[in-house]
Amino acid sequence: MQKILVTGGTGYIGSHTVVELQNAGFQVVIVDNLSNSSAEVVDGIARITGIRPDFEQLDCLDCEGLDKLLAKYKDVAAIIHFAASKAVGESVQKPLLYYRNNLVSLVNLLELMPRHGVENIVFSSSCTVYGQPDFLPVTEQAPRKPAESPYGNTKQICEDIVNDTVHSGTKIRSILLRYFNPIGAHPSAEIGELPLGVPQNLIPFVTQTAAGIRPKLSVFGNDYSTPDGSCIRDYINVVDLAKAHVIAAQRMLTGKSKSPVETFNLGTGRGVSVLEVVNTFEKVTGVKLSYEIVGRRAGDIEQIWADPTYANAELGWQAKETLENTLASAWKWQQKLTAAGSK
Ligand code: UD1
Repeated sequence: MQKILVTGGTGYIGSHTVVELQNAGFQVVIVDNLSNSSAEVVDGIARITGIRPDFEQLDCLDCEGLDKLLAKYKDVAAIIHFAASKAVGESVQKPLLYYRNNLVSLVNLLELMPRHGVENIVFSSSCTVYGQPDFLPVTEQAPRKPAESPYGNTKQICEDIVNDTVHSGTKIRSILLRYFNPIGAHPSAEIGELPLGVPQNLIPFVTQTAAGIRPKLSVFGNDYSTPDGSCIRDYINVVDLAKAHVIAAQRMLTGKSKSPVETFNLGTGRGVSVLEVVNTFEKVTGVKLSYEIVGRRAGDIEQIWADPTYANAELGWQAKETLENTLASAWKWQQKLTAAGSK
């Protein structure tokens, strides 16, 4: 059984990926510092798959600790690197925290990989690297735009770090996955997104408002040049997204990569507005959402959605889940969290 090290494996996308890796027959070791997640997520993963992944509480900034860990779990075949700070607003307030966490963690892993014979790494990138693209849907060939935030900048720099390292004569291969907007939860509602404090992202804010935790949702702007005036994004089901990681790991492990660094857009190819999300959520759940239109949020781009053709063709992967089912899964997860909190 091949072993995969998943950094940030108790986080939102990480935990769903661990489930899919185990379902595909991989052995998983999770490394997570629990800064934005909980060890109980491992229980949820075990309940879904019947397998408890190895879990090590460790910060990827701790190079010595990572070194020991890679010595302990010999023969790691690939690393999937999720561990990173991801709040755009916070990154503006605390840029150095973001540069340290996101860049140094990756540098540590890349430095340690050759020492431990690990040759494959999947990196969690983001569509944020495109900024507001000139053409939609956006392909992987679109130029990267200057980052709107330190967070976005770390994603660009991390992509560069991977590229430069791979092309420096090491044996390392990599796949950079540019996520659009991952939403929803595992259909079992055993795992899902666990935002700390007031959610910054749309869907957890929507579900918390529907649950009565927040009085109302603020829709950031209805004066954009879009059909209904609200921003457009490409919302992708988190389980669909997780499955792409399994395929990416398998692609490298079976020598199918076409170049030492490959980049893929992971999205549905469909742009959906904020107001469409609100309406679809109400339709699917039967819950009326209290919302108001407020001013634009600084740093928001107007519209972006993926051209996933390359990922579809090369990875044989497609985002399959409907927005309706995905929003229903987010609501099911929220209801479970609310029930657990009120016990
Ligand atoms: C943001 C980041 C993206 C990052 C991702 C990670 C920017 C420009 N992009 O994506 O780089 O990878 O978070 O978490 O910051 N909205 C509301 N009301 C809310 C919350 C959101 O109307 O309370 C709207 C936003 O204006 C946006 C859409 O919902 O149009 C999605 O917002 P969000 O979930 O925060 O994702 P992004 O901003 O697309």
